[in-house]
Amino acid sequence: MITSIEELQELAQMKKSHNENNPKEPTIDMSCDFYTKQTRIVLENEGIIDPEDIEDYITHGGYMSLFKVLDEMSPKDVIEEIKISGLRGRGGGGYPTGLKWESVSKVQSEQKYIICNGDEGDPGAFMDRAVMESDPHKVLEGMAIAGFACGANKGYIYIRAEYPIAVKRLTRAIKQATRLGILGANIAQSGFGFNIEIRLGAGAYVCGEGTALIASIEGGRGHPRQKPPHLSDHGLWGSPTLLNNVETFANIAPIIKNGGAWFKTIGTKNSSGTKVFALSGLIKNTGLVEVPMGTTLRELVYDIGGGVENGRKFKAIQSGGPSGGCIPEELLDLRVDYESLKEVDSMMGSGGLIVMDDSSNMVEIARFFMDFCASESCGKCTPCRVGTTQLTQLLDKFIAKEATMHDFVLLKEMCLVVKSTSLCGLGQTAPNPVLSTIRYFEDEYLAGIKDD
Ligand SMILES: Cc1cc2nc3c(=O)[nH]c(=O)nc-3n(C[C@H](O)[C@H](O)[C@H](O)COP(=O)(O)O)c2cc1C
Ligand code: SF4
Repeated sequence: MITSIEELQELAQMKKSHNENNPKEPTIDMSCDFYTKQTRIVLENEGIIDPEDIEDYITHGGYMSLFKVLDEMSPKDVIEEIKISGLRGRGGGGYPTGLKWESVSKVQSEQKYIICNGDEGDPGAFMDRAVMESDPHKVLEGMAIAGFACGANKGYIYIRAEYPIAVKRLTRAIKQATRLGILGANIAQSGFGFNIEIRLGAGAYVCGEGTALIASIEGGRGHPRQKPPHLSDHGLWGSPTLLNNVETFANIAPIIKNGGAWFKTIGTKNSSGTKVFALSGLIKNTGLVEVPMGTTLRELVYDIGGGVENGRKFKAIQSGGPSGGCIPEELLDLRVDYESLKEVDSMMGSGGLIVMDDSSNMVEIARFFMDFCASESCGKCTPCRVGTTQLTQLLDKFIAKEATMHDFVLLKEMCLVVKSTSLCGLGQTAPNPVLSTIRYFEDEYLAGIKDD
């Protein structure tokens, strides 16, 4: 059992000396451009520590932030530090994390919950998976700090069952932390206790939406509900609940360790820190990249990604998954942050970036994402259930070059109807890939209109 920050430091020192005498080969060669051009905060331990060994995490400064919080800070101090950092939720919406924590902390209730959203359903996204697999204790530490700040003693990690390694490592991490007294009752004799359990999802994309996720944990159908009431007032089993994404929680320990002001110096004015992106598509170097907010798309595609494959010409980059948009070549110097992506009709989403070359047909790309939304629609509300299917069918007509000018007008109108009348974020954002491709690649839609 570890009962004080001094004991934690002692264990770290002991293990450090042992490691210095028995050096390990690093599992990743960090000397190539792909890594040297990154700034790693969330992924700082990836490939460095053994994710199945809590002592390795502790040796690298792990749980020091939690013990610092319990030793020196009040819940208000913690929330203030997170507010100073400017951290915004990495699950897609970019809501300020400090404000969210403050809302939950202010509600008076005997029972509150912290939930970590590890559902990660965007096609091609695997940022959260990498964090949970390579550094599970960092997620637990962030959640425990959130529990202390918000006055919650119970946490859940909602994770898709298709991530068996992440589930295994998190389960093991919870057991190890509990055995050392880092989770459980009266942590470091502070009077604060926190327990974490894992709940598995069956892979429905909509279960990543907060209210659907909670319905799923409660054992019901994973259907979203109308808001308000917000989760901070009425969340899991009717109690105030804080829901944050895996990457959001993984930023907490570094912020507490280095200070909110340090974090604020990284990134742009309104989007501080780094973002982990899953760089994929027709690009030479694919994989996870962590860069400061404000990095340009050009730097991501060319300096880190090595440029387009097979000497072909760059055409567009899709950001934000099924809710996002396609950004054309003339906007490659865009400095990526929450606001700049919205201005060009795309969004950050969870961090998927898919590169397309000049052989890609943008109507087909839009159809791919619409088809995804149509099959993942939970069916609860008509505009999304019927609208996404009808939009897919309309897009088929353009691809078959059988569309009319009337279809084009209808396509645009229906996108706006589905966006403005759907119940949850899935339907409200499903038309985004269509609207952004119409904005930048309208000629490809017009090419699908048959001659009268
Ligand atoms: C259809 C849909 C799917 C979503 N999927 C996820 C997901 O897989 N992971 C996630 O963290 N947030 C997802 N979100 C966003 C969550 O509802 C919520 O905003 C987020 O988990 C809050 O955490 P954050 O403040 O740290 O971003 C999804 C939203 C919608 C509408
Ligand atoms: S918008 Fe779609 S996913 Fe959301 S509640 Fe309506 S039918 Fe379900």
